Amino acid sequence: MSASDNTIHASHELAGDSEKLEKYYADWAAKYDDDVRNEEYGGPRAIASIALMVADSFLGKPAKSIRVLDAGCGTGLAGIELKMKGFDVIDGFDLSQEMCDIAEKTEAYAELAGNVDLNRDDKPVFNRTYDLIVCCGVFTLGHVEPEALTRLAEYLSDDGYMVVSTRNSYLEDTDYEDVGKLIEKQGTLHLVTKLPDARYIAEEDAHYWVYGKGRKAS
Ligand SMILES: C[S@@+](CC[C@H](N)C(=O)[O-])C[C@H]1O[C@@H](n2cnc3c(N)ncnc32)[C@H](O)[C@@H]1O
Repeated sequence: MSASDNTIHASHELAGDSEKLEKYYADWAAKYDDDVRNEEYGGPRAIASIALMVADSFLGKPAKSIRVLDAGCGTGLAGIELKMKGFDVIDGFDLSQEMCDIAEKTEAYAELAGNVDLNRDDKPVFNRTYDLIVCCGVFTLGHVEPEALTRLAEYLSDDGYMVVSTRNSYLEDTDYEDVGKLIEKQGTLHLVTKLPDARYIAEEDAHYWVYGKGRKAS
């Protein structure tokens, strides 16, 4: 296993402990882009493509007119890809202020906020809602619990959509699918479609889930 792969794997051992995650990412932030590039991390590019598909096929709006939220934006890799796809106004938040500080330097983001913990029932950090949210690499082992889907949903407008990646190992080791079904039953979100086993990182694929806010219109 390469040194980059070891660093990525070590982040999966943090058991969703926010203090440990914050410290880990503070220390990793400066090297994060190089490490994930070494492991052919394609999640941000894939999620930006799916976001564009959602904009065209479901929202029916030009990308440049949609304000997007990048939840768990890290160093801004998805923001860069979203910009390249024509999204013009992107906000981002992350648990790690150090990761956000690097995201800021990409100039891809309009507003950024650090210290936002998706494992806690805090008030949303931005007081607007979004027609489109992307969340890449965050539903990963040791990071965010499946219930965080409901916290993300609070940022969605009534007609909004969100795209979430789940590494295959996360799907195998958590109750994400059951929690997702329960959240659908409760009427918070509905599953629009999913891309199973799509490109994510050299080591393994991910599913990309597209959710709409509320119950499915009948
Ligand atoms: C693998 S990185 C992905 C970053 C970016 N989205 C990307 O694709 O490069 C995971 C990110 O999730 C953030 N994170 C971990 N736990 C979190 C939590 N409880 N709430 C919000 N963000 C969290 C980390 O700080 C880190 O930036």
